Amino acid sequence: MEFEFDIHKIFLEPISKLDSSLLPQRRPLVSSSEAQRQIVAVIDEIGKASAKAQRLPAPITSASRMQTNQHHLYILKDCTPKTAGRGVVIGFLKVGYKKLFVLDHSGSHIEAEPLCILDFYIHESLQRHGFGKELFAFMLRTEQVEPQHLAIDRPSEKFLSFLRKHYNLRSTIPQVNNFVVFEGFFRDRKAPG
Ligand code: ACO
Repeated sequence: MEFEFDIHKIFLEPISKLDSSLLPQRRPLVSSSEAQRQIVAVIDEIGKASAKAQRLPAPITSASRMQTNQHHLYILKDCTPKTAGRGVVIGFLKVGYKKLFVLDHSGSHIEAEPLCILDFYIHESLQRHGFGKELFAFMLRTEQVEPQHLAIDRPSEKFLSFLRKHYNLRSTIPQVNNFVVFEGFFRDRKAPG
């Protein structure tokens, strides 16, 4: 995804992590107000692209939603010389903690607050090149979470295939909400969630 401004001046790292402040850890090379304007444009655009790819009626990721939630947004840019110009955004991953009632194997409701995968998108032209894995692995390291301890909000078929391939997540524990959890969800969890 290309923009009319220089991605490399707002996102200095290959993967930038944003929270509700919408500011990456490394200070952008443009003024704060300009950086804010550009970052809002990027988030709104990639959120729309993800919704379109998943055929959702409306984006679930936008700058205004980011500002009012405690979510973490990881944005991956292209660092290869061929896009050395203004840079391109390859994709993003959005996560956040949510209080959920999760059914265990015996069907009992267990209250938990797992890290949830809320939105995940790699640009159509770049899917199946390993970028999703790069982004996901970075998030796991940063959030210090094991893949089997995540809850996934309405995963697509592509994402389920991704989790099978890269993390051997296959068997699910049936739930009554939209979240999918896998075998191992209740094993060795960090307290309290
Ligand atoms: N069809 C089936 N499986 C796919 C596809 C596809 N078109 N694309 C990726 N995968 C899965 C496969 O397991 C694939 O392995 P394979 O090529 O050996 O079959 C594996 O992902 C490839 O891994 P990466 O290259 O690291 O993944 P990628 O960069 O493509 O990112 C992602 C995966 C984010 C799911 C991407 O395909 C995408 O954006 N899809 C469209 C949007 C989407 O479905 N997002 C998830 C929504 S659910 C949620 O966010 C909670």
